[in-house]
Amino acid sequence: MHTLGRISTLRLLISIIIMGSVDISLPVLVDTKAVLSCSPILLTNVIITTWEIFLGDKPPCIRTQRRDTNRISKTNCTDKRMTWLNRPDQIPALQIDPVAITHEGHYRCIVAAHDGNFFYEYQLQVLVAPEVTLFQSENRTAVCKAVAGRPAARISWTPGGDCVPAYEYWSNGTVTVQSTCHWADGNVSIVSCSVFHETGNWSRSIELNPGVRTLAFPVSHLLIILYLKSSIFLVILIIVGIIYFQRINDCRLKML
Ligand SMILES: *[C@@H]1O[C@H](CO)[C@@H](O)[C@H](O)[C@H]1NC(C)=O
Ligand SMILES: *[C@@H]1O[C@H](CO)[C@@H](O)[C@H](O)[C@H]1NC(C)=O
Ligand SMILES: *[C@@H]1O[C@H](CO)[C@@H](O)[C@H](O)[C@H]1NC(C)=O
Ligand SMILES: *[C@@H]1O[C@H](CO)[C@@H](O)[C@H](O)[C@H]1NC(C)=O
Ligand SMILES: *[C@@H]1O[C@H](CO)[C@@H](O)[C@H](O)[C@H]1NC(C)=O
Repeated sequence: MHTLGRISTLRLLISIIIMGSVDISLPVLVDTKAVLSCSPILLTNVIITTWEIFLGDKPPCIRTQRRDTNRISKTNCTDKRMTWLNRPDQIPALQIDPVAITHEGHYRCIVAAHDGNFFYEYQLQVLVAPEVTLFQSENRTAVCKAVAGRPAARISWTPGGDCVPAYEYWSNGTVTVQSTCHWADGNVSIVSCSVFHETGNWSRSIELNPGVRTLAFPVSHLLIILYLKSSIFLVILIIVGIIYFQRINDCRLKML
């Protein structure tokens, strides 16, 4: 048995025929369950199945399973969220539950069969939906935010304004995208912000203040009114004064 196994492995190594290689980009939502199947086709004569998992700059974790020796498997993968789905007559699939941002990386399954090798590769991309908010910050200026999304969301406005974008990168790998816009044109009243993201699209609308900001309004207004009132009062005082002095002069002239 042992020798036979060795011979077949040797034969396989000598006559490696790459049957196929598939590279799949797999986007998955954070906190959900992901199942990575090794191959959609049923392979007979499978000798060894190997999963190689490359996450960030950490050394890869590897799991191998021999078909011919009662499915004995060896692994140095320690992540409890990763489990193996063994199904009869199928190559074991990898299950990740729940998916975290740290699971983003490269997953390679190598199937060694009597008639060749088969590579199946996944590029796992972890998506996080942003939280969308829209509010008015000051005088005819609105702020649209897509908080802690992955990858970065894209923001656009209708109608277009005078906009300034800002990005904030979090240590957990998410990004907050913010767009602050100003509309000087007084007849723009309702503005909408659209957020485009891999996890979905959102749209929010807000009505802009028609004129000057309410908080700044009363103080300046009061000052203007006070100023105008005192000016009018001064003018009246001067006129009254002029009239009074003219009358006195008239009286003096009459007396003379
Ligand atoms: C797992 O084993 C492989 C090969 O035996 C080694 O290259 C790798 O560094 C190991 N990974 C960890 C996380 O220990
Ligand atoms: C990432 O970090 C940000 C800021 O601390 C937090 O708001 C967000 O919920 C985190 N997201 C995930 C998926 O951990
Ligand atoms: C409000 O916007 C108008 C028009 O752009 C500008 O003239 C005015 O100075 C702004 N006021 C404040 C308080 O920012
Ligand atoms: C804004 O108002 C002016 C004058 O009433 C008008 O000519 C202009 O077309 C308006 N702009 C928009 C975008 O409605
Ligand atoms: C979001 O909008 C883009 C561009 O209009 C579109 O291609 C995409 O399918 C939309 N995504 C979703 C989830 O609706």
